[in-house]
This record gives sequence, structure tokens and C-alpha cells, in this order.
Amino acid sequence: MPHYITQPAGRAGGDFRIPGDKSISHRALMLGSIAEGTTEVRGFLESEDCLATMKAMRTMGVRIEQFAPGALRVYGVGLRGLRQPGRALDLGNSGTAMRLMTGLLSGQTFDSELIGDASLMKRPMERVAAPLRLMGARIDTDQGRPPVRIGGAAALQGIRYTLPVASAQVKSAILLAGLYAQGATMLIEPGITRDHTERMLQSFGCPVQAAHGEVHMTPVERLVARSLEVPGDFSSAAFFMVAGSIAAGNGLTLRGVGVNPTRTGLLDILALMGADLRLINHRSAGAEPVADIEVRPSRLQGIHVPEHLVPLAIDEFPALFIAAACAQGETRVTGAEELRVKESDRIAVMAEGLTALGVSCEVLPDGIRIQGRPAEAPAGEAVFAGGTIDSHGDHRIAMAFAVASLRANAAIRIDDVANVATSFPDFPAIATAAGLHLRAVP
Ligand code: S3P
Repeated sequence: MPHYITQPAGRAGGDFRIPGDKSISHRALMLGSIAEGTTEVRGFLESEDCLATMKAMRTMGVRIEQFAPGALRVYGVGLRGLRQPGRALDLGNSGTAMRLMTGLLSGQTFDSELIGDASLMKRPMERVAAPLRLMGARIDTDQGRPPVRIGGAAALQGIRYTLPVASAQVKSAILLAGLYAQGATMLIEPGITRDHTERMLQSFGCPVQAAHGEVHMTPVERLVARSLEVPGDFSSAAFFMVAGSIAAGNGLTLRGVGVNPTRTGLLDILALMGADLRLINHRSAGAEPVADIEVRPSRLQGIHVPEHLVPLAIDEFPALFIAAACAQGETRVTGAEELRVKESDRIAVMAEGLTALGVSCEVLPDGIRIQGRPAEAPAGEAVFAGGTIDSHGDHRIAMAFAVASLRANAAIRIDDVANVATSFPDFPAIATAAGLHLRAVP
């Protein structure tokens, strides 16, 4: 089984461009496919998850050309131009692809079926199926899990819906179905979540208003293709923000990172912990803000993470837990039960790994308490013992424990790492260039 072997490194440094954003790459493919005209995409993330979405769109008759690394032309077929796939669409490991596609396919004239890998087949899908049914969609799941079967030719109605969980995937699935509905759709969010769908719909000519936790969308006759530049993925940059904070050295510069404020909760959390992070060269990539991030080593302090920041940092907790172990005192995370239904149960799996490396922690139903270093511990000393980590096939768990090697006193072996390629195929190369002693064993 593919695994990483890391050796203690201690120092990190360098200047890197962060590969394209996964969430935005999925949306560029889906909206580009149903727009009228050609959408040219640059900075597209060629990871397994996004390639699964690309394959699904091609199976439904969309021509997509990859004309240079990270550069695509999506020849849109219009809102009603997708063709019935001849087989179930396999979305691999990607929860985003499956949930957004459920919304998109609810509005088609044909039947379809969505499947995925062993991890995706266990993930909850009723959170999207239930509101889509309220709109008139015909969707079956297997006791709430995939396969998701979607009946064609349903007459969809716009809805007013209060999301029970803060989830951009649920919000986006409903907005995509709303494109095919009679009347407007209005969503009320319990917490702020990433708004890439709203921004991209707006730039493709569909009016979406968002304010005070409410999103309002009016369907349009057509989406108009628009060229897009995908910013670097903040969630990939996160591993290096933590690496640059906990390691000695000159720090790291991360170029071209998307800094949409609905994604950057980790910046606020690390700032509260005393991290030295600076955003420079602010610019925009179409509808999305971008900056370079400079991170320097710092003495972190444990905190109780404010709950309103949890949805804004939802994918960054594995990396944050490594930072917490290196901070002085206790870090407490609550209000984060959503972590239990990601690619793995990220509370249980991170706790298992931290414990294996000698860090004390206590699992809470909705979070975790992590004991950092005592006040008298010298800065920069090793925090993690060596050991073996089972990443449970979760890409972000594997990358988080690779970063831990910067403060380990012995080798760490990380098992089941193939899924790093679902979001960040270049991780081993960039991590090595940044100073980690990491050997990827195929
Ligand atoms: C995503 C939304 C989040 C996030 C996932 C990507 C998206 O999921 O964890 O990695 O692209 O919309 P939830 O909506 O389930 O929180």
C-alpha cells in the first residue's frame, strides 16, 4: 500500500506557487458545461477528484480539451444540452462532485445514477436529497448513502429553505437545481460557508444576492460562458502555513492563494494562536480574491477555537490539530461535529494519530481537546514521537501528519496515502522542496 516515510526535519523554507483550488475547479467544469459558449479555465487542479467531475461531464456529452497543464476549454452545451450517461457516473472519492452533481442532475430530463469509491459510498447524501425532494426532485439513496439515483423530467419548484447544517455542498446542490426550477430559490444558512458557487453563477450571468446569511437566486434562460482563472487552493496552502509556523527557518512564501473570506478561517485561528502570517500582493482572479501568504516561525498558544470560525476552516482542522500539539497549553475545538462525516471521521482519526505520536488529547462529541507543550518547554523542541499513522485513506490526515515530522524526534510512517492525489498530487514534491524529509513509497 502506498505510504510515506518521514524523518525529522526541523527547518522549513522557500517560495512556492500553490496548485489550483479544488472547489472552484469542480464548479468551473459544471457551470462551464451547462453554459452557452466556451469557458477557458486556467489554473485548473488536475487532481483525481476534479478529473472525476471532468470524466462525468464528458460522459454526458460535453467536449473538454486540456490544451496545456492546468488549462482547459469547456465547450458548453447549454442548460438543457447534457446527454443521458450510458452508465452510472463514478465520482471516486469526491463528496463535492457527488453532492453538487445530485443538484445539477435533478433538473435534467434523463435518469442518472451516482456512485463512488468505498469511502464515498459511506457518506451521507440525504442532506442534499431531502431539500431537493422538497423542490420536486425524484431521488433515491440507499438508507441515506450512495448510490444516488435521480429520476429525470421532474418539475422543480424554487424553494425557501433553512439549511440544518452549515454546508456549501448542500447550498450549491440546491442552487444548481434552482437553475432548472420554476421561481426563485432562497436559502438561509446557519453559518457562513464558502460562496464560490454564488460568485461563479453571478459571473456567468445568473443573479445571486447574498447578505446576512441569506442567499437568493433567480433562474435565468441561459448561463453565458466566461473565462476563469482558478486561484491556488487555500486548503492546500494550509499545510504549509502550519509547517512555516511550527518549524525553525526563514519561513515560507505561498504564492497565488485564494483568500476568499469564506475560506480563510484558519488565518484568524492561527492569528489568535500567535502565528506570524502576512498577506501581500492582493489581487483578484475573476470573482475570487487572491494574495501571497508569508509565514514565519512563531511560538503558538493554545486557544478555544471560536465556533463561528469552524465552517470557515472546515477542511483545515487536520493541519490545525498539528499546530495545536506544538502550541503552549491546551487547544479546544467544539461545534465541529461535521468533521466526523468528511473523507474519514477526522476527530477520531486525528486523535488516534496524535495519540500514536505521544500527544495527549481527549475526543469530544463535537470536537477535541489537545494538550500542547508545557510553558517551560523550549521553543522548537520535538513534540511528536516517531510511530505509524493510519490515514484511513483521508488525504488531509496524511498531509497533516507529514507536516508533524517537522517537530518529530524519530521517523513517522504514514499509511494509505494514495488519496493525497485526490486534492494535492504535488504535495510530496512541494513538501520536500520546503524542507520536509519525506519519501513517498508507491
Ligand atoms: C466543499 C464544501 C465543504 C468542504 C469540501 C468542499 C465545496 O463540505 O469540506 O471539502 O466545494 O463545496 P461541506 O459543504 O460538506 O461542509
